[in-house]
Amino acid sequence: MRKIVLIITTILGSVWYAGAQEINSPDKNLSMKFELQGNGIPTYQLSYKKKKVIKTSKLGIETKDVPAMLSGFSVTNAEQKTFDESWNPVLGEQKTIRNHYNELLVTLTQKDIKNRFIRIRFRLFNDGLGFRYEFPEQPNLNYFIIKEERTQFALAGDHKAFWLPGDFDTQEYSTMTSDLSEVRGKMKEAVTPNASQTTFSPTGLQTPLMMKSKDGLYINIHEAALVDYSTMSLNLDDKNLILESYLTPDAIGDKGYMQAPAQSPWRTIVVSDKATDILASKLILNLNEPTKYKDVSWIKPIKYVGVWWEMITGKSTWAYADIENVQLGVTDYSKLKPNGKHAANTAHVKEYIDFAAKNGLDAVLVEGWNEGWEDWFGKTKDYVFDFVTPYPDFDVKELHRYAAAKNIKIIMHHETSGSVRNYERHLDTAYKFMVNNGYNSVKSGYVGNIIPRGEHHYGQWLVNHYLYAITKAADYKIMVNAHEAVRPTGLNRTYPNLLANEAARGTEYESFGGNNADHTTILPFTRLMGGPMDYTPGIFETRVSAYNPENTSFVHSTLTHQLALYVTMYSPLQMAADLPETYNKFMDAFQFIKDVAADWDETDILEAEPGDYITIARKAKNKNEWYVGGITDENPRVAHISFSYLPKGQTFTATVYADGKDASYDKNPQSYTIRKIKVNAKTVLKQPLAAGGGVAISIK
Ligand code: NOJ
Ligand code: CA
Repeated sequence: MRKIVLIITTILGSVWYAGAQEINSPDKNLSMKFELQGNGIPTYQLSYKKKKVIKTSKLGIETKDVPAMLSGFSVTNAEQKTFDESWNPVLGEQKTIRNHYNELLVTLTQKDIKNRFIRIRFRLFNDGLGFRYEFPEQPNLNYFIIKEERTQFALAGDHKAFWLPGDFDTQEYSTMTSDLSEVRGKMKEAVTPNASQTTFSPTGLQTPLMMKSKDGLYINIHEAALVDYSTMSLNLDDKNLILESYLTPDAIGDKGYMQAPAQSPWRTIVVSDKATDILASKLILNLNEPTKYKDVSWIKPIKYVGVWWEMITGKSTWAYADIENVQLGVTDYSKLKPNGKHAANTAHVKEYIDFAAKNGLDAVLVEGWNEGWEDWFGKTKDYVFDFVTPYPDFDVKELHRYAAAKNIKIIMHHETSGSVRNYERHLDTAYKFMVNNGYNSVKSGYVGNIIPRGEHHYGQWLVNHYLYAITKAADYKIMVNAHEAVRPTGLNRTYPNLLANEAARGTEYESFGGNNADHTTILPFTRLMGGPMDYTPGIFETRVSAYNPENTSFVHSTLTHQLALYVTMYSPLQMAADLPETYNKFMDAFQFIKDVAADWDETDILEAEPGDYITIARKAKNKNEWYVGGITDENPRVAHISFSYLPKGQTFTATVYADGKDASYDKNPQSYTIRKIKVNAKTVLKQPLAAGGGVAISIK
C-alpha cells in the first residue's frame, strides 16, 4: 500500500560542502547535523525539541589492511530526500506501518588516499535517527578488514540506564538499572554465570540500550538490519559519557571482512519525551528491507505448548539414559537403560497433543526427542547431534500421524550444541526430514561455546549463519525460532519466517534462580526493540518445587501477570509454557490464553515506564476482538486503562482477569478474580495490580 513517495533531491554546490548539513524530522521535533571537524573527521549531533540527545560525535571505521576511514575527508556530495510510504508486515503489532523520514546522504572523499570515498546515509524519522556507512564499488576500495568501528554516541548527561554487560556470547543477564557513571562499580555484580560468555570491558554495554535523561528524555540505542557484519556492543567512556561502538571479534581478533560494494547495519537512536513512544516506534523495522519472499502464505502465528518446562524445572530430562560417553553412530541407544524420566516419549507427547487439540492451540514443541543429549553440555564436542535420529521411545511416524489427525503441528527442536559447523553440515537433511514428517517450524538453539572454537555467538561468521539457517528454512517453508542466536535487529520484516528469537533472559531463568520482578517491564524497552521474543510465558504453578522438590526457585510474578504477558510481550509465536496438568486445574484463567491473538491489526501503548509498568491494548488481526495486558514490577499500582480504541457508540463485554485483593508475586501469586464488565470507547478502568501483578482483559 504505497501512499506517497516524494523524492526531492538537492545536489548542493561544492561551496556548501564546507559547512554543516542539517535535516529535521518530518514533524520537526528532531534535528540532526552532520559536519566535518578538524582534520576532516566526520561528526554528527542530534537534538529533540531543542534538547541535545547526542552531542558532537565522531564517525568512522578503523581498518586493518587498508588506510583508515577516520579522517582526511572532504564532503564531495550531499543529497537530501523525503520518503513517505506505508507497508503491511506479514505478521505484526499493526496492520499498516508508516515509513516516513527525511534523508541526508553525504559522500566523503579522502583526497590523499587516491580519492577513495565512503558514504554515510542518515534517516531522520519522527521517532529517531538511523544512519549507516556505505562502501561503494570503486577502483581504490575492494576488500578490507575492519579493526574497529568508531561510531560515537556522546550523551548529554549521566542518564539512568537499563543495561546488560557487554558480551560477545550471551544476553542472558538480569538488567541493571543505574546511572551510567555507576556502571563500572556494578559490573562485577552484573556478570552472572552463563554456559558461554565473553565480556570485554568494565564499562561494556549491550544494545538495545535504554536510557532516561534527568530531564525526562527516553533514548534507545540499537542497530537495524544486522547482515554480514559483526554485532555492535557499546563501550562507555564514563568520564566523558561517550558511548563508542565495539564490534564482536572473530577467532583471530578481526571484526569484519568486507568487500565493496558493502554497507554497515543501521545505527539507531529512538528518542521521545514519552516512554510509550519508544514502545510504539517502528523505526527499526522501517530501516529493514521489505520481505524478500514472494509467497508468504505459509507464515502463520503459532500458539503452542511444549514438552519443555518439565525439563527446565528438573522434573524430567531431555536425555534418554543417565550415562556419559555416548557417541553418535557408535552408541547403540536401544541397548542403553532408559532413565525413566525421559519426557519426549510417544505416549507423553500424545498427551500434549491431546491438550493442544482440545484447547484450540496450534502446536506442540518437543525437546529431547533425538539422540545425543546424554553427553554434550559444557563439553565443546564437535559432533553431538545429527538432527534426524530419534530416541528409541520417540516414534516419529506415529506422532506425525496422531498430530495430523488432530490438526496439530509438532515443533521440531534443533539444539546445535553450539557446533554450528556440524549443524550446517546437517541442515539440508534435517529440514528435509522435517518436511517428510510434517513439521513446519523449528526451535533452534546455540547453547555453549561456538565451534569452530574461538568464534563468538555475535561475530560476523555467526551472524551469517543465523541468516543462512533462516533463508534455507524458507526454501522448505519452515518457520524459525532461534534461541541463543544474536539479538534481533528487525530482520523479521525481510525474512518473516524468523518468527521469534530468545536472545535474552527468558522465563527459563525463573527456574534457574529467578528473574527480577521488574524484568518484563524492561524487556519491551530493550530486547524487544529489535523483534519478537519467545519469552515462553504462562506459568501458573509459580513454585518450581511443585514439579521438582529440589528446586526452590519461583516465578517472580502473579498468575494474572503471566496472562498479561501475552499482550505486553509482542510475538507471533506464543507458548503456554506450563504443564497441561496445571492448566487443567485453572481452566477459567487458561481461557484467556485460548482466546488471545498472536497477530494484530492495531496496537495502543496505553501507559509505560521502563522498570515500572506497561499497559498495552491490541486489536486482533481481522477480528473485532481486543486484548489488554497490564503489568507492574514489585510495586503494586493502579493501572488506568482506556478503551478509546473501541468503535464509538458501541458497548462491549470485557472479561477482566485481575489479581485477587491479597495477591502478590512472592506470597500469594495464584490469587485472581475473573469478572465481566461493560465497556465503551469512553470507559476508563482503574484497575489495582498487586506487587509483581498484572491484569489481562479480553473484549469480544
Ligand atoms: C536453552 C533454551 O533457551 C531452552 O529453551 C532449551 O530448552 C535449552 N537451551 C535446550 O536446548
Ligand atoms: Ca521499578
